[in-house]
Amino acid sequence: MVMNLTQRTDDLLDDSLAALRAAAGDAERTRAVRALFEGLRSLRGAGCADSWRAVTSRVMAHPVRALIHEDPMTRRSFEKPRGYAGDAVLLDYIYRHTVLEDVTSTGRVVNDYAVGRPAACAVRHRRDYLAHRIDRVADRVEGARVLSVACGHLREGELSTAVRTGALGELVALDADEDSLAVVARAAYPRVRPVTLSIARLLAAGTRLGHFDLIYSAGLYDYLAQDLAAKLTERLFESLLPGGELLVSNFLPGVTDAGFMESFMGWELLLRDLPAIEAFGACVDPAQVADARVFEDPFGAIGYCELSRR
Ligand SMILES: C[S@@+](CC[C@H](N)C(=O)[O-])C[C@H]1O[C@@H](n2cnc3c(N)ncnc32)[C@H](O)[C@@H]1O
Repeated sequence: MVMNLTQRTDDLLDDSLAALRAAAGDAERTRAVRALFEGLRSLRGAGCADSWRAVTSRVMAHPVRALIHEDPMTRRSFEKPRGYAGDAVLLDYIYRHTVLEDVTSTGRVVNDYAVGRPAACAVRHRRDYLAHRIDRVADRVEGARVLSVACGHLREGELSTAVRTGALGELVALDADEDSLAVVARAAYPRVRPVTLSIARLLAAGTRLGHFDLIYSAGLYDYLAQDLAAKLTERLFESLLPGGELLVSNFLPGVTDAGFMESFMGWELLLRDLPAIEAFGACVDPAQVADARVFEDPFGAIGYCELSRR
């Protein structure tokens, strides 16, 4: 099995390199990149965790990697300048917020193809959905308080009428990364307060930030061990006002792009199925829960756990 996978990996990488080098235009480059994504997806599904690790180390050593890393998004994810893949700067590529400059034809095609894949569509859908949820809570509650946990650049703010016009009591934008919060501060939203705080300190500090009508976290739980995720969920739930809503998300095992993400991007997330996402609420006092549900997005890429407080 491992021999077979090794050969299949080498064939895929060799073929991709040859196809990209020979490509006469963007359509041919895109075909080559698509074949690479699909080949990696198939290899990831073909064996166990150890054999997949062997595949990714062959990817790292192959000359096609340099070509794929001509896409600044993929390269940034792989190089992890902030210590982990998937920082807020990387997400700006996925949001098509960052305009590519001085990028080769191959780099541009890799980027264009990757940000059109289901995983990236799901991240943009998540941002749009969060903006919608902020606007709905602003409609429902006069002077609503909102907490965004691990807010990154808070790009949902650009899509939320309530955030842009200040039709909220307050939105606390919490993140451990000061550089990301500087971007939030520059947006100068009228009712947004950036707060530099890590999850560890948030857990230790209790409800010092006050209570909220809506708390959400996107792009954080995928990095947290299950017990920490449950502890954080319990703490966030305790920080809800009566009638408040908590919404957290996590990538699903069905995401079709994990092969490319975990190899060329070096972006390893804890993929969880809906029962595991539902179990985020395991430590929450059931007597306090008015409603609980889990659901997945239209791309089958991101799952959500929503809990509302009595
Ligand atoms: C994938 S980004 C998501 C950003 C934003 N929520 C979004 O959806 O665009 C993850 C964010 O989590 C933050 N983060 C990671 N670990 C954290 C921790 N332990 N405490 C607080 N923030 C953390 C990072 O700084 C980063 O901004």
